[in-house]
Parts: sequence; C-alpha cells; structure tokens
Amino acid sequence: MIQRLDKTISSQMNISRNDARSLIKKGSVTVDGNTLTDVAAKIDAEKSMIAVDGKPIFFKEHIYIMMNKPQGVVSATVDPKIKTVIDILPEELKRKNLFPAGRLDRDTVGFMLITDDGDFAHRILSPSKHVRKTYIAHLRDKLSEDARKTLENGAVLSDGTQCMDALVKIIDDEGKIAEITIREGKYHQIKRMFASVGNEVQFLKRISIGSLSLDEMLKEGECREITENELSLIEKR
Ligand code: URA
Repeated sequence: MIQRLDKTISSQMNISRNDARSLIKKGSVTVDGNTLTDVAAKIDAEKSMIAVDGKPIFFKEHIYIMMNKPQGVVSATVDPKIKTVIDILPEELKRKNLFPAGRLDRDTVGFMLITDDGDFAHRILSPSKHVRKTYIAHLRDKLSEDARKTLENGAVLSDGTQCMDALVKIIDDEGKIAEITIREGKYHQIKRMFASVGNEVQFLKRISIGSLSLDEMLKEGECREITENELSLIEKR
C-alpha cells in the first residue's frame, strides 16, 4: 500500500498529522534504514521497515479489537450523554475511525467487536452471511421443552416477524439459563424471542461471534487485539 509518510506515521502511532510531521522533520523517522525528512514522501507501508527513534513500527492497515463489553455502555461511536464502547478503549488501542461492528443493548455484556475495517464489518453484519452469534441468557422462568423447541424452529415475534431457526440449550439444573445461537441480528432479537414464548431475559451475555469465542481472561470493560488466526474464525462456518 503506497501512501504518504506523514499519513502512515500518524495512523500507525495514533498521533495527529502535525505531530507526525514534526517527528519526520526532526529526523526521527527511518524507512529501510534511511532517514526521511520529506513528510510527503510516498512509501510502501506494508513492505518497508519503518522505525521511529530506532523503534520499529509494524504496519497494520486495520485493527480488530475484542472487548468484553460491560453494562451501562452503549455500542455506538459517540453519544452526548452515555459512555460508548469507543470511549472506554485503552489509549494504546485508540485509533481514528474505530466503530463497533454490530450492536449490543446497553445492559448486555460480552463480546463486542470494534474495528476500523468497514468492508470486514459489512461482511460479518450482512444478513445474507448468516454469521452465528451465541449468547447466554438468564431467564425469569424455567424454559419448557415446548418453548425451547418453538425457539429452535423459528420464533414469531410479537409484531409478527418470523425468526430463523436457532440452537437453544439449557445449561443449568433449574432450566433458567440458556445458551442460544442465532444467525441473524434483529433489534433486541434474543429478548424478543424469549418474550415470544412468555419468558423474560434478565441478563444477557454474548459469548461468541462465528467460531471465535470471547477470551475468558478479559474482565468486563477489558479488551485486546484479535490475532489474524482468530479473525478468520469469525467468518468460518
Ligand atoms: N439480542 C438482544 O435482545 N439484545 C442484545 O444486546 C443482543 C441480542
């Protein structure tokens, strides 16, 4: 990818274009061992060895972040009143153009994917791609076998919307905690599915997207970068 040196330094170091230009002008930046002071120099950012004050910069065109979203935070980029998933990112992962790929309700916790790769987000959110999402739902009432089967066969929501088939497993002895996998993403879908069989979701956590599970080491509010191998699991059927 050929691009201007100041743009590369600014995006890869998460600093302003002006700060990037100052670094370049004062001779801090080397490309393949040569000091470049021309801020507009065109470089192949993927193939060159770039270093700032001797420290190598490993070029990444895009970033993919796994967050264990806490309750009370909205899955939006900006909000005038409420903290967003972007606001709570640690400084070292903040970059321009990051956005949440998909939505979780304010009170839902778990796997939130944050990226600056619009094409990737479009692919995994596209209804035709049917990327699976798995949730743990704590229910008000025990889920009957009839209700479980109704959800598995495709619930009809209160407004008449027909859902696709789903996978629903009871995972506790009382029958009040379900693991549910869906292949679509309608508004409040899981809550509305359980409501359609007369139940109520009291706590909701997303535990996987595609074949990639939320890292159990991440506490609520924590996040980390997704590796390339993990990334391919998201689109894997
Ligand atoms: N379904 C819901 O009802 N809420 C979420 O946050 C995600 C899926």
